[in-house]
Amino acid sequence: MKKDLLTLRDLSADDCEALFVRSLELKERHASGIADQTLQGKTFGLIFDKPSTRTRVSFEAAVVQLGGTSLFLNVQDTQLIRNEPIADTGRVLSRYLDGLVVRTYSQDLLKELAAAASIPVINGLTDLYHPCQILSDLMTILEKKGKLEGLKIVWVGDGNNVAHSWLNAAAILPLNLVVACPEAYQPDEAILSAAVKDAKGKIVVLSDPEEAVRDADVIYTDVWASMGHESEHGLRKRIFKPFQVSEGLLTMAKHDVMVMHCLPAHRGEEIAADVLEGAHSVVWDQAENKLHMHKAILEKLISDQ
Ligand code: CP
Ligand code: NVA
Repeated sequence: MKKDLLTLRDLSADDCEALFVRSLELKERHASGIADQTLQGKTFGLIFDKPSTRTRVSFEAAVVQLGGTSLFLNVQDTQLIRNEPIADTGRVLSRYLDGLVVRTYSQDLLKELAAAASIPVINGLTDLYHPCQILSDLMTILEKKGKLEGLKIVWVGDGNNVAHSWLNAAAILPLNLVVACPEAYQPDEAILSAAVKDAKGKIVVLSDPEEAVRDADVIYTDVWASMGHESEHGLRKRIFKPFQVSEGLLTMAKHDVMVMHCLPAHRGEEIAADVLEGAHSVVWDQAENKLHMHKAILEKLISDQ
């Protein structure tokens, strides 16, 4: 039966482990010039209703580099814009394609699409989650630190879709996760409590960034106003100011702390320019790893059917 990747909760710890091993192997093979053709003859559609640079291009490149074909569908150019039901879209596209990557607003809409589709559906970001991002971020941590367990990973900023996927990750893997957000911008209560209930390691939620990053191995941040929240940008800039990942904040963490950001970044807002460009930042390698992890995800969903 086809499997979807709508949230990290769709995966087991073993699934994640297999993805880490394969993505790191694919990265090495790509660097050695080996052209794996594991998606030969397969066609994937990318339906995007929000902007994207990294997720779109890394998925498209992943498909092409593995011998498949990728079709990009801007929602504005489809009949979805004229109210064709999402379920009808899923049923029809399943007759043409072997898999779908979708970036949209509503997680419920994504679920409805996946329920109607007979092909794997992958969440390329919704208002609630960004699961593929966290898989490649965990791959980056493993690559750089050699382990996940025993590391203090600290989220600093908005309790948003990326933070929610970090919480989901801590529900399936033994992570030590600290989430630091302003009081009014904490993660969704239902997602948080479900993750805390199932946590394989430890999840702590704080509202003091300095306390949160004490002895951190990894500090992770993201924009203060996600896509869809642009009108709140001014207000959020004022409220989130103490949550900027700055050189000062880094001094509270371990000396070899690694700074991560899913990008795009706003220098001088959630992250200081000198931190983003500094010695602790791994953001460019982090962005690259989306390519390798997306290859592993596509291969897995095709072969698991
Ligand atoms: N990190 C990420 O998802 O970037 P894009 O919005 O450019 O895809
Ligand atoms: N939280 C951000 C992530 C962008 C990759 C957003 O949803 O806009």
